Amino acid sequence: MRITVIGTGYVGLVTATCLAESGNHVFGIDKDEAKIQILLNNGLPIYEPGLLEMVQKNRREERLKFGTDLEAAIRQTKLVFLAVGTPQSDTGDADLRGIWAVGEAVGRILNKLQAEGDTSKRILIIKSTVPVGTNRELTERMKAMGCTLFEVASNPEFLKEGAAIDDFMKPDRVVVGVRSHETAEILRELYAPFLRTERPFLVMTPESAEMTKYAANAMLATKISFINEMANLCDRLGADINDVRRGMGHDVRIGFQFLFPGAGYGGSCFPKDVRAVMAMGRKMELPLPMVEAVDQVNEAQKQVLPTKIRQHFGDSLAGKFIAIWGLAFKPRTDDIREAPSLVLIESLLAAGCKLRVHDPEALNNVKQIYGDQLIYCDRPYGALEGADALVIVTEWQEFRNPDFEVMRRLMRNSVIFDGRNLYEPRQMESLGFTYYGIGRGR
Ligand code: UGA
Repeated sequence: MRITVIGTGYVGLVTATCLAESGNHVFGIDKDEAKIQILLNNGLPIYEPGLLEMVQKNRREERLKFGTDLEAAIRQTKLVFLAVGTPQSDTGDADLRGIWAVGEAVGRILNKLQAEGDTSKRILIIKSTVPVGTNRELTERMKAMGCTLFEVASNPEFLKEGAAIDDFMKPDRVVVGVRSHETAEILRELYAPFLRTERPFLVMTPESAEMTKYAANAMLATKISFINEMANLCDRLGADINDVRRGMGHDVRIGFQFLFPGAGYGGSCFPKDVRAVMAMGRKMELPLPMVEAVDQVNEAQKQVLPTKIRQHFGDSLAGKFIAIWGLAFKPRTDDIREAPSLVLIESLLAAGCKLRVHDPEALNNVKQIYGDQLIYCDRPYGALEGADALVIVTEWQEFRNPDFEVMRRLMRNSVIFDGRNLYEPRQMESLGFTYYGIGRGR
């Protein structure tokens, strides 16, 4: 099939590339010339493992093209994916200006094509995460412009940063919200190559598809906030959340996934989507106390590490050298949006600490915010020199099995605040560290 993907951000780029990988001809279109230029120069505007190689391969084989000319792309394609950003607005709901602007641009082009005698129906497919009712409103706006030969479908994405290619190529399920059987069948054919292992293709109304995305993310965020709350209680009661988590997870009704306590969830999705659900509830005047609590618990969880550090050092915190390992909101990404590390950095800087920070991918992004207020270290051990404590905020693989002897030699004080429970408390104590985990009994 011939496809246009509007937006070459995270979702758009992964979608365009994976659709090209399965044999389609894809135009990746963005109004941001700088981004397109990076792509045309064989680079990537974002970091995602495996994506660069796949983009380059599909460009070489001429299935994937990038540009800024939306009209030229739509002339040649029937399927048009909308993958523009829907950031959080000041009021907590999703900012849809990007969607409306693209809708208008596409509407104008469709009118022009129709006037030229083009009679083929275009399917606009919303990939961006949008509030329930957006599909309907976009449809109405385009109808009001006089467009007739189109349908707006909803096809939420369930990609995880750092594993996006795998998630797209081998999805747990594909959800489409459509208004006609014909559109459902076209999308079924498009996704068939990705569903060969008997994964379901779920057809529903656009409203249900839009809601599915929010409900799924809110559920996952709920699991995290729940386990974080249990972990904090374990700390007080002297129980170990890691044993509790294992004891719970073996119940297949509960399962193991997304039950890892930590420094709070971050990223561009959970915080924004949970707040968007809250905003939809407010709009409908329907109280959503569970979802509100998920957000509140998470905000409080970002304070758990700073609080443990303050309690350990008491009045002597000012002037201490603190090493931080992991700044990205999770491993395998350079993304620091809503990252718990930023809350920690703010708190420690305010307390007068000197911070030596390391992250395998996110240093540059953090540098753009904090400039010379922090000391940036390319290697994990470099951050430890003379440190009074190490704080681990992101569970990068390379932090899991470090040389503890070397660490002790480099650090002034052998104190570790482990926000991801990477190590065993008893082993750490026997190696001479003062060790704090999350919900490990202290
Ligand atoms: C999330 C969802 O997992 C995807 O399914 C969804 O498509 C995506 O949002 C989206 O809406 O676009 P992502 O934000 O990339 O994906 O990251 P996750 O791997 O879900 O992690 C989110 C946060 O939760 C991270 O800060 C992570 O550290 C935290 N987390 C995750 C925990 O604290 N504990 C866990 O057990 C799992």
